[in-house]
Amino acid sequence: MEVEDDYRRKQQLVLLAIVVLASLALVSLLVAFSYYCYISNKVSKRLKIRKRADLEDGGSFENVKEFSTEKGLQLFTFKQLHSATGGFSKSNVVGHGSFGHVYRGVLNDGRKVAIKLMDQAGKQGEDEFKVEVELLRRLHSPYLLALLGYCSDNNHKLLVYEFMANGGLQEHLYPVGSSNSISVKLDWETRLRVALEAAKGLEYLHEHVCPPVIHRDFKSSNVLLDKNLHAKVSDFGLAKIGSDKAGGHVSTRVLGTQGYVAPEYALTGHLTTKSDVYSYGVVLLELLTGRVPVDMKRTPGEASLVSWALPRLTDRERVMHIMDPALEGQYSMKDVVQVAAIAAMCVQPEADYRPLMADVVQSLVPLVRNYRTTSKIIGSSSSSSATKSPAPHDNASSGD
Ligand SMILES: Nc1ncnc2c1ncn2[C@@H]1O[C@H](COP(=O)(O)OP(=O)(O)OP(=O)(O)O)[C@@H](O)[C@H]1O
Ligand SMILES: [Mg+2]
Repeated sequence: MEVEDDYRRKQQLVLLAIVVLASLALVSLLVAFSYYCYISNKVSKRLKIRKRADLEDGGSFENVKEFSTEKGLQLFTFKQLHSATGGFSKSNVVGHGSFGHVYRGVLNDGRKVAIKLMDQAGKQGEDEFKVEVELLRRLHSPYLLALLGYCSDNNHKLLVYEFMANGGLQEHLYPVGSSNSISVKLDWETRLRVALEAAKGLEYLHEHVCPPVIHRDFKSSNVLLDKNLHAKVSDFGLAKIGSDKAGGHVSTRVLGTQGYVAPEYALTGHLTTKSDVYSYGVVLLELLTGRVPVDMKRTPGEASLVSWALPRLTDRERVMHIMDPALEGQYSMKDVVQVAAIAAMCVQPEADYRPLMADVVQSLVPLVRNYRTTSKIIGSSSSSSATKSPAPHDNASSGD
């Protein structure tokens, strides 16, 4: 009997142990399962977030890049641009520069455009084409000429810009010997406004873009005027992305246009945003005097505009004698002295003494504003004598 009891107790103990072990196994299985569920839930949540971010960005990094770089620029076929310009007819030529001919054209949707056809696809031309397209698709300012699109097939490189009905500023300051040149000159008020708008274009490049962009070929033919004579800065083919903080770029090949290149850049290849400020000063002198930057037909002391004008700019008496006779005294002495002082600072031989473009803008703003107020109050006696030029380029046609 006692043996039987002992056997039964042992059986119960074994059973209890089995139950305890089984429950323990079940609990650990449950714990493991819930941990698995927790982890996989977390992973799938993360995956979902990444997927959503990818979708919002356009699918993948490559796509994001592709999307942002292509934004806003239209790709044209050569055929489209051929028909927009009436087969690149001579009658649609509005100018010619180092890149090639510039044609007026009309797109299928009726938009007037200026089309630059590259003469030959040399290495320098190819580089300028790339710089122009890459920079202009990123830069947007009302004071910069807008690039609408381009055509780049094996044999042809073309740039399509908004059309500026009054062409280059130089055409309105002195005869340039082309069939498009204009005999009537810009009035004083318009010259001041053009100076301010061009300054704002350079200010945008130097101070609102990171890293700053140095134009490198700022000149009067790269300041274009629309049908209302508002100015925009054009031609970034020679532009350089860089900073003036780390001492600028040193280049062995000096690019730019004679008469506009800053002395330190011409002598040492040292390029900073202050090189553009010098070129801007030369354009300001063109606006004041109506003279070209270099004129070998003048007497030796007068051949270089900067050397001739600089000593006169800060002399109140002498400065009045350098003014463009075509302005017929539309200006006040106070305005002239101020603009001459800005020009004198911009063309300082020492780059560090030149102002920032933001300073130039600040100095010109009150002059332009004053002029507007005066015109309104007096009923614009001075502006009535001003000669507004017609819009010589404004008859865009797609054929002869
Ligand atoms: N967007 C435009 N709208 C109207 N006319 C334009 C336009 N772009 C250029 N032009 C005309 O074509 C002319 C030549 O311009 P282009 O930029 O090819 O040469 P450039 O500025 O004279 O010299 P460079 O090639 O050395 O810069 C300008 O002076 C202007 O009259
Ligand atoms: Mg140009």
